[in-house]
Amino acid sequence: MSEHPIVVFDSGLGGLTVVAALHRMMPHEHFVFFADRARVPYASLSPNLITRYACESASFLKEHEPKAGVIACNTVSAVALPEVERVLSVPVINVLHPTAAAATRATKNKRIGVLATSATVKRNTYSLVLNELLPGVEVTSQGCPLLVPLVEDGWTEGDIPRSIVEHYLGGLIEAKVDTVVLGCTHYEYFREHIQHAMGPNVTLVDTPLAASVELDQWLESHHSLERTGPGSVKVFSSDVTDALYRVVETLFSNTSNISIEAVSVERLAKAVALP
Ligand code: DGL
Repeated sequence: MSEHPIVVFDSGLGGLTVVAALHRMMPHEHFVFFADRARVPYASLSPNLITRYACESASFLKEHEPKAGVIACNTVSAVALPEVERVLSVPVINVLHPTAAAATRATKNKRIGVLATSATVKRNTYSLVLNELLPGVEVTSQGCPLLVPLVEDGWTEGDIPRSIVEHYLGGLIEAKVDTVVLGCTHYEYFREHIQHAMGPNVTLVDTPLAASVELDQWLESHHSLERTGPGSVKVFSSDVTDALYRVVETLFSNTSNISIEAVSVERLAKAVALP
């Protein structure tokens, strides 16, 4: 079983930050990642459509006979977790719960800021999970709808992205949060801007690391961790553009066993087995 792959998916490039961290922590594992870039951003869609697209992605990945799955998308984790678990029918790690747990361990003043997509903020999932883990915690949430399109466009550097990021941080600074959750995996690409604007005393939770630790511990405790041989990363995307190649080159510069392949949305729809 341990030689079976781990499948990971997101609506787009954000999920690659999670794959990079997984691959760093578990270098002998085989990862198959799918990015639904043809239909990103998910956050502007209805919950029904987000669930359908997430199930299509999961069904496609299921064909690779995985031993475990990782939902590298907070929006899908908030909206469609049980449906994806049903489709994959292997143990599934999502990014939202380990991130929330790490945030409650990090905060000292019990004030946590959450930057997320508008769909995740509307669902209030972070606030609910954080309050369950740390009763009485004050959560300040901010939707950041412009950030996902900027990442997909490969535009994360310079004055304009920086000022957009700063615009979204006003409420968190006012609320005096000491911990910030990047509640959308795309926001990892703005980590430095966010840290700089929030100041050195504010902790930014590391979602890719939190999810990697959770998966690593699960595999270890179930004797399913691959311990030998070179690992690999297969990247599938419903749209392959230069921005994807650039991100892969940057995040996986030390990985030789990596491939990129396009998958059409028609092919995805064929894979679907809605629960
Ligand atoms: N990376 C996804 C997340 O973590 C972005 C969702 C979207 O496509 O709007 O929520």
